[in-house]
Amino acid sequence: LSNENLATGEPLYHQVADRIARLIVGGTYRAGHRVPSVRRLSGQYRVSVSTVLEAYRLLEDRGVLEARPQSGYYVRSQERPPEPLKTTSCSEATELDVSTMVLNVLRESNRKELVPFGAAVPSPSFLPTSRLNRILAQEVRRDPNTSQSYDAVPGLPSLRIQIARRALEAGVTLTPDEIITTSGAQEAVQLCLRAVTRPGDTVAVESPTYFGLLEALESLHVKALEIATDPRTGICLDDLEEALDKEGIAAVVLVPSFGNPLGHCMPVDRRKRLAEMLRRFQVPLIEDDVYGELAFTPRRPPAVKAFDTSGDVLLCSSFSKTLAPGYRIGWAAPGRHFRRVELLKYSASVSTATPTQMAVAAFLAGGGFDRYLRRLRRTYRDLMQRLAAAIGDHFPEGTRVSRPEGGHVLWVELPSGADSLKLHAAALRHGISIAPGPLFSATGRYRNFMRLNGAVPWSERVEDAVVTLGRLVREQLGARES
Ligand SMILES: Cc1ncc(COP(=O)(O)O)c(C=O)c1O
Repeated sequence: LSNENLATGEPLYHQVADRIARLIVGGTYRAGHRVPSVRRLSGQYRVSVSTVLEAYRLLEDRGVLEARPQSGYYVRSQERPPEPLKTTSCSEATELDVSTMVLNVLRESNRKELVPFGAAVPSPSFLPTSRLNRILAQEVRRDPNTSQSYDAVPGLPSLRIQIARRALEAGVTLTPDEIITTSGAQEAVQLCLRAVTRPGDTVAVESPTYFGLLEALESLHVKALEIATDPRTGICLDDLEEALDKEGIAAVVLVPSFGNPLGHCMPVDRRKRLAEMLRRFQVPLIEDDVYGELAFTPRRPPAVKAFDTSGDVLLCSSFSKTLAPGYRIGWAAPGRHFRRVELLKYSASVSTATPTQMAVAAFLAGGGFDRYLRRLRRTYRDLMQRLAAAIGDHFPEGTRVSRPEGGHVLWVELPSGADSLKLHAAALRHGISIAPGPLFSATGRYRNFMRLNGAVPWSERVEDAVVTLGRLVREQLGARES
C-alpha cells in the first residue's frame, strides 16, 4: 500500500477500507463475521494502527461494518431495501397547481432546529464555507468599484471562463460568450423555459420531478405531461417519443444526471438517442445539471448537451449543491436561444449579483476544486449508504429506497396506505422535516413516497430521526388496519 494513490489522490485509510470492502463483496467475510482486529490487520497490511482504525470507522460510516464493544468490528447485514419500480406516464397534460402546497411545506421545513431531511440542501459543514467567504471579502476589497456595479447582462467574464472550462468535464465545448450567469439554477431554468414556451403550451417532464421545475411551469401557465421514469436510467424514451409524436410538446425539461428526487442517471447511449430524437422532432431540451458534478463514480457522466448539434439543448446548472446555495450563482448555456434568454435575463433582474460572482470565479481560479469535489462526493456516497441502511433497519416491510449513484437525495416508497403529507406534519412535531411525495408530481401522485436529503452529517440525533420516522409510518399503517 502506498502512502497516497497518485492516480486518485485517495488517502491510505481509504485504500485499506476499499480492500476490506472488496473482501466483503467477494465473500471472504460475510454478514455477522468478525473482520481482523485492528492490531492484526495493521500487521498484515503493514500500516499503522490508527490507519486501520480510520478505515474501520469509514466502513462503519458507510454502514458496512458495525463496532461491538469489547468484541471488535463485524460485517453488517447488507440487505438493502428493494428499489422503487419504474413509474408510469400520464395520458394527458395537466395544468399545474402545486406552488401553494410547496410553499406551505417548505416554509415549515426550513426551521433551523429541525433534522433537515426536507430540503435538498447540503449541510454548510461539508462546503468550503470559510474559504469562500474569505475570498468574497478579499475580492470586494481588491476591486470595490466592480463589486458594487451592475454587471454586464450575461455575467462576469472571469466566472464565465471558469464555467466554460468546467463544462469540458461534461463533454460540452462552450466559449464564455455562450454562457449567461443567473441567480441559481432556478432562474436559469425559468428563463430558458420562458424562451422556448408560450402560455398554454405543454412541456414533458420526468415523473416524479423536482417541484421547482413544476413551479416554474405553473408561473408561466404551461402544462406538464408526466412521462414514466426509471429510478436507475431516467425518463422512458419510448414513452417520450410517443408523446412527441402525438401531443404537440413545446419543450422537454429533464435532470438526466442524478435527478431529483429519483437520483437516476441516464446511460450514455440513451443520452445520444434522446439528443437525436429531439433533433428529429425539433423540440428543445432544458437540461438541468445541478447534480452532474456529484457522481459517485470517478468521472461525471457527459451532459446530453455534449451530443447536441442543433443548439436546441439549453444547459442549466449552479454552484448551489457544490459550493454555496446562498450565493445564488447559477448559469445557462442556451445554445441558439442565447439572445432571447439574454433579453429575458435583463428584464427579469438586469444581471446577477456581482460580489458572489467575483468570489466563485476567484475560488475556481484558485485551484483545488476538483480535489475538494472528490472528497465531497465520497462524503455524500457514504452518507447516502448509511441513510439507506438505517431506513432498511427501521422502516416497515414493503419500504423501497432508491440507489442513486450521485447527488444527495433518496426517494423512499412507503408501504401502500402510508400518507407522506400526514407524515410530514407528524414528523415536524418530532423536530424532523421531510419532503412529501406529492410535491414531485403535477397530478398529486406519490402520496406514499417521500424524498430525504442525505447531505446531513451523521449523528445519534440523525439516526434517532430515522427511527422516529419508521415508527410514525408503522403507527400510520397500524391505525389504518385497526
Ligand atoms: C433539480 C434541481 N434544479 C434546480 C434546483 C435549484 O437550484 P438553485 O439553488 O441553484 O436555484 C434544485 C435545488 O434543489 C434542484 O434540485
